[in-house]
Amino acid sequence: MPPVESSELIELEVGAVANGGFCVARHEGRVVFVRHTLPGERVRARITQETKNFLRADAVEILEASPDRVQAPCPFSGPGRCGGCDWQHASLPAQRRLKAAVVEEQLRRVAGIEREVLVEEVPGAPEGLGWRTRMQFAVRRDGAVGLRRHRSHSIEPIDECLIAHPEVEALGIERKRWPGASGVEAIASAGTGDRVAVLSSRGRARVPRLDAPVRLISGKPEKPPFVREDVAGRLWQVSGSGFWQVHPGAAQTLADAVLDALEPRRGEVAVDLYCGAGLFAGVLGERIGPDGLVLGIESDGQAVHDARFNLRDLPHVSIERGEVEKVLDEIQFGRGKATLNRVDLIVLDPPRTGAGREVVKRVAELAGRRIAYVSCDPATLARDLACFAEYGWTLSGLRAFDAFPMTQHVELVATLVKD
Ligand SMILES: C[S@@+](CC[C@H](N)C(=O)[O-])C[C@H]1O[C@@H](n2cnc3c(N)ncnc32)[C@H](O)[C@@H]1O
Repeated sequence: MPPVESSELIELEVGAVANGGFCVARHEGRVVFVRHTLPGERVRARITQETKNFLRADAVEILEASPDRVQAPCPFSGPGRCGGCDWQHASLPAQRRLKAAVVEEQLRRVAGIEREVLVEEVPGAPEGLGWRTRMQFAVRRDGAVGLRRHRSHSIEPIDECLIAHPEVEALGIERKRWPGASGVEAIASAGTGDRVAVLSSRGRARVPRLDAPVRLISGKPEKPPFVREDVAGRLWQVSGSGFWQVHPGAAQTLADAVLDALEPRRGEVAVDLYCGAGLFAGVLGERIGPDGLVLGIESDGQAVHDARFNLRDLPHVSIERGEVEKVLDEIQFGRGKATLNRVDLIVLDPPRTGAGREVVKRVAELAGRRIAYVSCDPATLARDLACFAEYGWTLSGLRAFDAFPMTQHVELVATLVKD
């Protein structure tokens, strides 16, 4: 088969959506992963990458449009432009159907689970814009700010991001020059209005005057400034670049979904794996009450410090610093400080790579009554669910949330019960 010139245009009948923000088509016997299109469209597409097994392409001309297609609200989206969003050209209901189809397909193909999925709206951004409270901006050598292009280190300069929360946009980061900087992360709390900017630099960076008050982190201070988040009736301190959900409605929505999944009872013992600043440990601790116990496990020292501070009024909640893999081993075999006589409930919220076989095995052996698995990646969730099934835990409920409108990403909460 002759190699395809990378600038060559090909005509494609576009098929189903796939995991990753693209749809699948075929060209001369080869699979093509096509961006900027929708299922059922006929498009002219530019090849962006060719491998032995597949091609990647960007739809540059729409010959027959899907009824779900809309004019992208963002002027920086489109083929070869900003890579931050994947579905600007689809209506919001269509975006949610696409995400549901991806989750259903991953569950079916990877875990052998047939399940209809509904992607629910997260309160706080009805148009799907102005929600992102944490933005990682990249800075070009000339000091101009932008966002990375898709699968590229090159930067699309922007002067506004439509999915950024107004509290982030108020800083005006994109409208300033940042000579010497390599990146600027803007973190804003929608609930309290606190703002922090984290600067990474190539050496000496000149910091411009921002349009709104902000605490700036440059280098590695011992005590980085924090934002306070107002969720589930308490204030949560989250320092520096520590993890917190980026959609203003997501932390509350997920906390509620985890409580619905686990139905904690007073006096139970619960473990919160990958606990970050302690969100799930906190809401579980309040439900379980002082006759029960909650143990959070987290590897990042600053996040552990935040979680302990955030939950200092709940003496039956403790936070252990360490890798989940290691601490679970200590609990199971009573080897470390973190000993528990029994575990009724486990919530796990691992990074995108998922928990993996070793952690799944430990969790499956330790948990007594229920498991809630919070995931931002349908592929690794499906892989881990298949593994849980081997240990006798089956999926009894699955909720999917549109915590990242305009992008391919989706947040999932799976409930597992023992066979
Ligand atoms: C997706 S966040 C979840 C945070 C928290 N559940 C929340 O909702 O705010 C994942 C967290 O896992 C932590 N982490 C990553 N790998 C870990 C490991 N092997 N052991 C313990 N914690 C880990 C990260 O530092 C991060 O805080």
